[in-house]
Amino acid sequence: MANETVRDPHSHYVSGQPKMKHVRWHVEVSFADRVLDCTALITFNKPGLTTLDLRGIEIKFVKDDRFFDLAYTRIQDHPVIGGAIQFVVPESRIVFIDYKTSPSASGLQWLTKEQTSGKRHPFMFTQGQCLHTRSFLPCQGTPEVRFTFDASIVVPKELRALMGANHISRSDWREFEDRVVERWRMQQPIPAYLVSLAVGDLEERDITDRCRVYAEPEMIEQATAEFKDIGKIMEAAERLAGPYEWGRFDMLVLPPSFPYGGMENPRLAFLLPTIVTGTGSMAFVIAHELAHAWTGNLITNASWGDFWLNEGWTTYFEHRILEELYGKEEALLHMAIQERGLKRDMDRFFATGKQAWTKLSVDLTQDDDPDDVFSIIPYVKGAMFVQMLEEAVGRARFDKFIQRYIERFKFISISTQRFLEFVEGELSGVLETVHHLEWVDGEGVPTNAPRVNSQKAAVALADAQFNMVPLDSHAWSSNQWVLYLQSLSRELPKSHAEELTQFGLTRAVNIEVRWSYLLFALEVGFMDDEVARSVEELLTTVGRMKYILPLYRALACKPVALVYAQQIFDKARSGYHPIAIAQVERIFKEST
Ligand code: BES
Ligand code: ZN
Repeated sequence: MANETVRDPHSHYVSGQPKMKHVRWHVEVSFADRVLDCTALITFNKPGLTTLDLRGIEIKFVKDDRFFDLAYTRIQDHPVIGGAIQFVVPESRIVFIDYKTSPSASGLQWLTKEQTSGKRHPFMFTQGQCLHTRSFLPCQGTPEVRFTFDASIVVPKELRALMGANHISRSDWREFEDRVVERWRMQQPIPAYLVSLAVGDLEERDITDRCRVYAEPEMIEQATAEFKDIGKIMEAAERLAGPYEWGRFDMLVLPPSFPYGGMENPRLAFLLPTIVTGTGSMAFVIAHELAHAWTGNLITNASWGDFWLNEGWTTYFEHRILEELYGKEEALLHMAIQERGLKRDMDRFFATGKQAWTKLSVDLTQDDDPDDVFSIIPYVKGAMFVQMLEEAVGRARFDKFIQRYIERFKFISISTQRFLEFVEGELSGVLETVHHLEWVDGEGVPTNAPRVNSQKAAVALADAQFNMVPLDSHAWSSNQWVLYLQSLSRELPKSHAEELTQFGLTRAVNIEVRWSYLLFALEVGFMDDEVARSVEELLTTVGRMKYILPLYRALACKPVALVYAQQIFDKARSGYHPIAIAQVERIFKEST
């Protein structure tokens, strides 16, 4: 189990050094050069030697508050965690840095106007989690350090600059210039990985008095309709976790190259456009990103080896919110699908010698890139563990515990160890009852894992288990299809995928259904023209890693398909986020 005194291996910052408390960040966004030209005036909590992580950033100068040069030394770049600068924070506690980002900054994606829906204006957005904020802001990149900020973002006047923060103003930037400055402020201290910015041609619609959606004009009406239940979702979340502390909860629909389904940037969740389905069936993504407002953004994992504290708890909340809004049956079906994903990632890690990454508390070194370690395991195994705790003490008692937990640790980063100590103090004996060590320090899924029992899941699972073509599926929901397709054995002959062509799954509107079928087809070796067309279409239009990485993996393990996959990647690459590009390249590297 991670030891409390060990420092976060993914940051050069050392506990005890002066911490950043506030940043005044000035950013000039240049679409022509694909760089952010920035100054950061950082206030620290005390004077003394300190360290800031950075990656690919060009430092122009570092000065003190009187504008005298401040000597600094550079720590060499590490392939996973990047480099750093070290300097002595002066008595004034203020340090001023003038710098420029690199056009290939890992935390920034720059899209040409052709890559947007509107095709009229370029777009850019940040993705900080886990180690990417340091590619656009020199910072203490460990989630243990939290800071507030004031930002002024200068952008072309046809565009808007949004941040996960409070909007202060929008005004002209200097006379005779076609640029505006948007000012944002974050008064609540947040870890570096939650700093976020997006710039583009964006419209807004209010849904409730504290929720609004932003999207490109082409998407705004559909997005508003899709998220109309957000008021109810927020009420359910607050009943569970206590008052929402961040004021607003706005949602930004990004272009389809966004590498995740959603990202919980405080006050402004970033979302993938494919969750706008016209049916509300992806509401769990919103429930999930909202739930992070408590577990993740208020209580934060102390390091990336404790990621389950963010994602497992949040997935547990996601289940509770689904259950309250759509009923137990829906929640169970959703969980059954997540369990398929869990099994898949478990198998993949066991097959590749990475079984140590199947623990909840993962011992990571700085050579383990959190982007590589990422899987659904901390989500689903983590949520199961929380559910075990709930079942051991009963829901009523557990719900009171949840509120005390959040009250106790809000705005604090905690380790798994500290969490367990708190549980033991509050719910004495429960850890032993659930065999917590098997969960936290054990590999795989412990034998006492809770079972999912759902009527709808059972129907789909039965057909899959008996290798049936589901002729009674006309009344199936998308989720039932997804569960069926993900449960089919990969030992089946390719004729099974061929028989399924009668259902037109390559054209399913729901991307989860389409993707699940395509993955099954590739994994059993079935690729007719229609599958090929649909795979290529998906890979060249969507950048979410959950979809594209398994498809590339399935193609890359067969020599003929590998060449084809590389051709698709060449075509798709310019539309992918740098984080996704790195992961796809890794798949190719490992398969050659
Ligand atoms: N915080 C994650 C996304 C993330 C994880 C970004 C790790 C970078 C590194 C976000 O809250 C998330 O879990 N998204 C899920 C949504 C789903 C579980 C509802 C996703 O993108 O699949
Ligand atoms: Zn999450």
